[in-house]
Amino acid sequence: RQNERESLLIALNFAKTYFQELMQKTDEGKSIGLSYFRERGFTNPTIDAFELGYSLDQWDGLLQEGTKRGYNPDMLEKAGLILRKEAEGGGKAKTFDRFRGRVMFPIHNVSGRVIAFGARILKTDKNQPKYLNSPETTVYHKSQVLYGIYQAKQAIRQEDVCFLTEGYTDVISLHQAGIKNVVASSGTSLTTEQIRLIARFTPNVTILYDGDAAGIKAALRGLDMVLEEGLNLRLLLLPDGEDPDSYVHKVGADAFKAYIKQHSQDFIDFKASRWLTEAGDDPLKRAEGISDVCASITRIPDLLKRQTLSQRVAQVFHVSEQSVISEINRLLRKQQ
Ligand code: UTP
Ligand code: MN
Ligand code: MN
Ligand code: MN
Ligand code: MN
Repeated sequence: RQNERESLLIALNFAKTYFQELMQKTDEGKSIGLSYFRERGFTNPTIDAFELGYSLDQWDGLLQEGTKRGYNPDMLEKAGLILRKEAEGGGKAKTFDRFRGRVMFPIHNVSGRVIAFGARILKTDKNQPKYLNSPETTVYHKSQVLYGIYQAKQAIRQEDVCFLTEGYTDVISLHQAGIKNVVASSGTSLTTEQIRLIARFTPNVTILYDGDAAGIKAALRGLDMVLEEGLNLRLLLLPDGEDPDSYVHKVGADAFKAYIKQHSQDFIDFKASRWLTEAGDDPLKRAEGISDVCASITRIPDLLKRQTLSQRVAQVFHVSEQSVISEINRLLRKQQ
């Protein structure tokens, strides 16, 4: 097992270097891959820091180069780099590269080793996924990984807060803008393992999700999970239609930081402001809102925190603290 793990990591590292060299040294790589990243505003130091690359638009470039260098095709398959299609009627199986004609985003573990890839198509095409990702392998468990954690961990410790975004390019563009304490859940809904990974470096999380319906939904889903792990949470939705990548390119690093300062909310304000807008004068809707915020408070393991937050809920909704505490206790009893 240990041996297989190490072999896969070595194969993945070979693939990473191969994709980097294709992008830096071949005509196709330069004119398509590198210029794509240039158009997105990525500088050379950024491209190096994230070890970005390009996969040729060919069936089996990596398979051929890998085989030539002594990598076992079975290993390349186990690493998620090549695909095998059994031929119909018992002929010889066909093997080919998983990633073809895409820009490559290596995914690193905490110690900086490449464990998987995300691969973006260059032009959006309805018939193909925008990003193709490595499958689950012995070394890659999607639910346990945060994109960018290796490049971010020192800054997360230093700043004592982790910005959590949705995507690869959000992490990269913020990093380039000097905001380096950033990771991405990479499109999956946030998991407890990912939150525990953040907790190794800081107890403070700020969710920065895309300002669209999917982003709001994901933020609300992630909220309770972060609270459950005992972390302190703030949230911010980018203006509609923007994500951290597009927004930091639009307004620059300083304005982006100012925007976070001004517009991030703790989870009570985040939820309450939505409920209060929706409820208006409707007392039943307000009650529903209070109950919803209280439900999130029941997720917090620390009793003292629950109590101080109850005061905040009472203030925000203009009700007595006692009624908030009763509601929290009612919900806690119901959960038992
Ligand atoms: P987004 O659709 O917000 O993409 O998905 P993005 O990160 O802004 O990418 P660009 O700017 O168009 O290049 C957020 C994240 O969800 C995952 C990726 O990790 C992506 O970064 N995703 C998205 C996939 O895995 N597959 C997809 O087809 C789309
Ligand atoms: Mn495993
Ligand atoms: Mn999105
Ligand atoms: Mn996005
Ligand atoms: Mn984007």
